[in-house]
Amino acid sequence: MKINEALFSGSSTRISEKPKQKFPEFAFIGRSNVGKSSLINMLCRNKKLAMTSSKPGKTRLVNHFLINREWYLVDLPGYGYAKMSATAKQKLEQVIRNYINLSQEMVMLFVLIDSRHDIGQVDMDFLTELGQSNIPFAIIFTKGDKSGPKALEAQIEKMKAQILEFWEELPPTFISSSETGMGREEILNYIGSVLETLK
Ligand code: GTP
Ligand code: MG
Repeated sequence: MKINEALFSGSSTRISEKPKQKFPEFAFIGRSNVGKSSLINMLCRNKKLAMTSSKPGKTRLVNHFLINREWYLVDLPGYGYAKMSATAKQKLEQVIRNYINLSQEMVMLFVLIDSRHDIGQVDMDFLTELGQSNIPFAIIFTKGDKSGPKALEAQIEKMKAQILEFWEELPPTFISSSETGMGREEILNYIGSVLETLK
């Protein structure tokens, strides 16, 4: 899958405000600061497409990016940012839930998890919820440049085992780095293969 064009198509807080033109959507979710917006920029090779920040809680809206005028990448706000006020947190959760549960065009949700840590309770609860709602998802372990190859592999094996404590099988998994481009081909080819199944 080659990306020839990536266009920002709008921000929304509810699905009724989504871009009018409907296409298959591939959305990115995960804890705040895990690297969702950076990954979208890396996939599109455009550092200015989605706004990123070293401070958590940057993305507050659902942002649609139209790719090749055929499908969307969707940048979602993060969950699990402890330092946010209860009201702000609730509002973001509402935005996330509204999109994930009601968006008819979402064909795949990529759940991003930091490759350096164990899978936290917030992530595990989120995956459980996806399972209960039958939402198709894949996992991307992010920031793969931050560990050496051996430590990275060991930590990812550990996390896969953690997932298998609760799940009978693993979803598709990828390792990415927005710094080095690690995982770019694999993720884009996977998106391409999912799009093929829709034809
Ligand atoms: P919210 O919008 O707040 O939920 O965060 P986000 O998940 O969109 O994270 P964002 O892409 O804004 O990145 C957060 C911070 O992590 C930024 O400082 C990025 O530069 C950094 N970052 C993201 N991905 C990577 C990566 O693959 N490698 C390294 N080294 N840093 C990364
Ligand atoms: Mg973001």
